[in-house]
Amino acid sequence: KETKLWGGRFEESVTDAVERFTESISFDKQLYKHDIMGSRAHASMLAHQGLMSHSDRDSILQGLDEIESQIEGGNFKWRTDREDVHMNIEAALTDLIGEPAKKLHTARSRNDQVLTDFRLWCRDAIDAILSRIKHLQVALVTLAEKNEGLIVPGYTHLQRAQPVLLQHLLLAFVEQLERDAGRLLDCRVRLNFCPLGACALAGTGLPIDRFMTSKDLGFTAPMSNSIDAVSDRDFVLEFLSANSITAIHLSRVGEEWVLWASEEFGFLTPSDRVSTGSSIMPQKKNPDPMELVRGKSARVVGDLVSLLVLCKGLPFAYNRDLQEDKEPVFDSVKTVIGMLEVSAEFAQNITFNRERIKNALPAGHLDATTLADYLVKKGIPFRTSHDIVGRSVALCVSKNCQLQDLSLEELRSINPVFDKDVYEFLGVENAIKKFCSYGSTGAEQVASQLEYWINKLDLN
Ligand code: ARG
Repeated sequence: KETKLWGGRFEESVTDAVERFTESISFDKQLYKHDIMGSRAHASMLAHQGLMSHSDRDSILQGLDEIESQIEGGNFKWRTDREDVHMNIEAALTDLIGEPAKKLHTARSRNDQVLTDFRLWCRDAIDAILSRIKHLQVALVTLAEKNEGLIVPGYTHLQRAQPVLLQHLLLAFVEQLERDAGRLLDCRVRLNFCPLGACALAGTGLPIDRFMTSKDLGFTAPMSNSIDAVSDRDFVLEFLSANSITAIHLSRVGEEWVLWASEEFGFLTPSDRVSTGSSIMPQKKNPDPMELVRGKSARVVGDLVSLLVLCKGLPFAYNRDLQEDKEPVFDSVKTVIGMLEVSAEFAQNITFNRERIKNALPAGHLDATTLADYLVKKGIPFRTSHDIVGRSVALCVSKNCQLQDLSLEELRSINPVFDKDVYEFLGVENAIKKFCSYGSTGAEQVASQLEYWINKLDLN
């Protein structure tokens, strides 16, 4: 067996069970690119500071290039006995270039190294998620553009509430996604500080320049407390919190679309490209992708909870428990990206059933609140208006008709304030025209919201 990089004080090698249990190479090899980036910056800084010769630095840089292309070409042999990505790369570099490689770990510990890698990885992951969020926003805005003027029932408590423009509803998802992006951007700003040079926990007595490596790696600044630098995982907690909120938003869209695709609603039809069938029921066409968007949000929340529990009660500074921080993050990122991509795909592959929606609109007295507003305009206090309309609705229920079917006499029998202009407020088409408040579902408001998003997303 090869001696471990840390093997100096050991007389016996670890058991196979311990080796298998403690390894992280099976998953942290994903960090290879960022590990190599960090090592390049570190070696260049060491040379600049006179802690390594320029020729050693050059051999290291060349060796790292070679290792990177081996990894990318699938020719690199990851070894479990080399434990993790850091020692795999360092040991392979030593195999490749010999003596100079032994200087690379000067003034560096895996504790600061792993966090440098991980922060760089998360920074890229955030950028990848941000681009998917934008892509989904574009899909939603495009879908909205295609469905101008379509009125749908708006629900509260999943009961008919008020009419809304479909565009307005789609743009509501777009707004939520924008805040999701904002949270990721905030998180990105806070995580972009460099732990490299914190070493094990206390820093070093060697004359390194942490500002140089930080700058080289595109960080804002080196972290100013070495103990914090190697202990902190709040950047991942924050990242996974943001992902969880995004996932929850997507699960709500998923639920909405699954419901709308049901026979009972029948408001939308997904194309075959985004539907799956049943192994027993030949007629079935299921909206599985959005069900799984709803379902997979569970793992994203689970990933966050795993990390929260992992960090709870850990003493300062590094503890090996923290090796468990990576898989939840990898899983969360992969899952959220998948959810965003498939939601966009779904949005590009649904049609709204105008006929079906139109036929559904008369039920549920969607215009009742508009009628109450009418009475307010006639000078009736809102609470009284609410009661008058409530009694009008009760009359409709007993007659099994809609508000617009009540005669003026019937309305006047409830309250004489009703006039024939009341019919301009009744019926869904009329009702929707009355909305005018900022941010409302009125046509003008929605048009300006839509225009805002078209510009913001560079869609014109
Ligand atoms: N594989 C370890 C991790 O992911 C790297 C840091 C190990 N440090 C140590 N002192 N054992 O956390």
